[in-house]
This record gives sequence, C-alpha cells and structure tokens, in this order.
Amino acid sequence: MLKETFELYNGVKIPKVGFGTWQVPNGDIAYQAVIDALDVGYIHIDTAYVYENEISVGQAIKDAHIKRSELFVTSKLPSHIKTYEETESYFYETLKRLQLDYLDLYLIHAPWPWSNIGQECKEGNAEAWKKMIELYEQRKIRAIGVSNFNVDDLKDLIARTGVVPHVNQIAFFAGHFQKQKETIAFCQENHILVEAYSPLAIGHALNTPLVVSLAEKYQKTPAQILIRYTLEHNTLPLPKSTKKARMEENADLDFSISKEDVLLLDQLSEDPRRFG
Ligand SMILES: NC(=O)c1ccc[n+]([C@@H]2O[C@H](COP(=O)([O-])OP(=O)(O)OC[C@H]3O[C@@H](n4cnc5c(N)ncnc54)[C@H](OP(=O)(O)O)[C@@H]3O)[C@@H](O)[C@H]2O)c1
Repeated sequence: MLKETFELYNGVKIPKVGFGTWQVPNGDIAYQAVIDALDVGYIHIDTAYVYENEISVGQAIKDAHIKRSELFVTSKLPSHIKTYEETESYFYETLKRLQLDYLDLYLIHAPWPWSNIGQECKEGNAEAWKKMIELYEQRKIRAIGVSNFNVDDLKDLIARTGVVPHVNQIAFFAGHFQKQKETIAFCQENHILVEAYSPLAIGHALNTPLVVSLAEKYQKTPAQILIRYTLEHNTLPLPKSTKKARMEENADLDFSISKEDVLLLDQLSEDPRRFG
C-alpha cells in the first residue's frame, strides 16, 4: 500500500498513504519518528512550517539515504502569510530547513489565519497562490494545493487565478463525512485530490462502537478500519504516530470495506464531547 499511488491531474504520482508529523516535536522525537517511518516503508512525509519540526524531518530524510525521486515531501505555507513576497521567503526558508532543493507538494495551510478562523482573506490567498504558481512553473514544486478550503474558498481562488489546486488537504475521518461531503464531491468533480488529515480524529475515533465492531468483523484494528475508510472514499490518509509498531499497523491496509459498511461509517456523527 505504501508504494501505491494516486495520480494528480498534472500527472504527478503521489503515494496513497502519507506520514503525518503534526505535534511531533523538533529534535530527537521528530528525527526518530521520520527515520522509523521511512524504515517501515513510508515514502510520503507531510510536514508544515508551523509544526516547527522541518529541521529534524529534513535531517532524517537526509540521513535515510533514500533517492530523492523516490520520496514525496509536502510542506505548508503558514496560514497567516497572505502576500506574494512573504510566500516566496517562507517557501525558501522551508526548503532550507528541510535541506531540499524542491518540494513535491506545497500547500496554503488554511484560507484564514488559525488565530482568526473564518477571516476573509480571499485576495491574500490569491496573492500567495500566484507566487506558488510561479514556483511551480520554475519547477521548485511538483504540485501545489491548499488545505482547509471549503467549496466557496476553492471557487474564489480558481476564479481569481484560473489555476485549480492539485490537492485540498482537509479534516476527514469517520464521523466527519456529513460535514465534508460537499467539499469532497466538489474536489473530486474538479480533479482535486482530497487528502484526509486526522484520519483517526487525532485518536478520538478509535473507540467508536461501530468502528470497534467493524474491526472485529474484518479482523483488523480500529485504526486500520478508520484509515481504510478514507481510502474507500478515494481520499489520501495522513496518519501520524511516533510509535514504530503503530506506523506498521497504520500501513497494513490491504483489505477493503464493503459499500454497506462504508455507508454506515458515513452516517456517524461526530461527538462534540470528544473534541471538547
Ligand atoms: N492541514 C492541516 O491543517 C492539518 C491539521 C491536522 C493534521 N494534519 C496532518 O495530518 C496528520 C495526521 O493527523 P493528526 O496528527 O491530527 O491525527 P491522527 O493521525 O488522526 O491521529 C494521531 C493520534 O493517534 C494516535 N495513533 C496513531 N496510530 C495509532 C494506532 N494505530 N492506534 C492507536 N492510536 C494511534 C497517535 O498517538 P502516537 O503518536 O502516540 O502513536 C496520535 O495521538 C498530521 O500529523 C498532519 O501531518 C494537517
């Protein structure tokens, strides 16, 4: 599964399961996590400037001595950066921290600053996007995309710039389908690959009774059911773990969930108490 790929609309192949690194502290922990993930066989690593771990992620990538063309590395422009000039400087800082000379995928981390969710930044997103298009044309990035964009955000960005993102990375897990189904449908109709971040709902979905009972039925673990579920929707999961055994578990996905059971998982609603 770790070697299987989706194809973006520009022909770039992207490994079907990525390794998430949010909340993995820079230093020994991030370094060892990425070394372990690469050893398990993950070749797709997802980081971001704001995770503050690009230095250790990059060092681990370097020390693993895997051919660069066999790896797929994603990073993200901080959500408060909405100008053409700053987009360029943050991008080059990310490359420097990762010790890379190009990125496979670069994303606008969110349509608004995390400190002010929902703030109207449409012009700023288009500014940042224009710089990313330029970097893409200069072959500094193999694919460009966005994250946390809803249908309105996507339509506006496309209308202002004429360039459709290759990827939209959004929160997607069993319990979040009702919330995300319009965005997923819009992306898939427009050939935008959806990446499913927090596929385990940051761990909160693992004890959901339906997930536990499906794990028994399929003789899999709850984590495997949750990650496989995102693949059944043709979205690309980005599970995160700092434990090597769990990295292996999260990549052992060579089974499928029946259409009926996917429908049951689609009906789950998120329990707000779990996220309180
Ligand atoms: N674009 C964005 O705005 C955005 C936002 C959030 C996340 N992301 C990306 O998506 C990635 C994944 O999302 P996430 O980190 O929020 O959460 P997640 O992958 O849904 O869940 C991670 C949590 O589950 C635990 N876990 C992992 N595998 C497990 C297993 N097999 N059994 C039991 N527990 C397990 C981990 O603990 P241990 O580490 O202790 O194993 C961690 O606490 C991030 O790391 C990041 O790369 C992007």
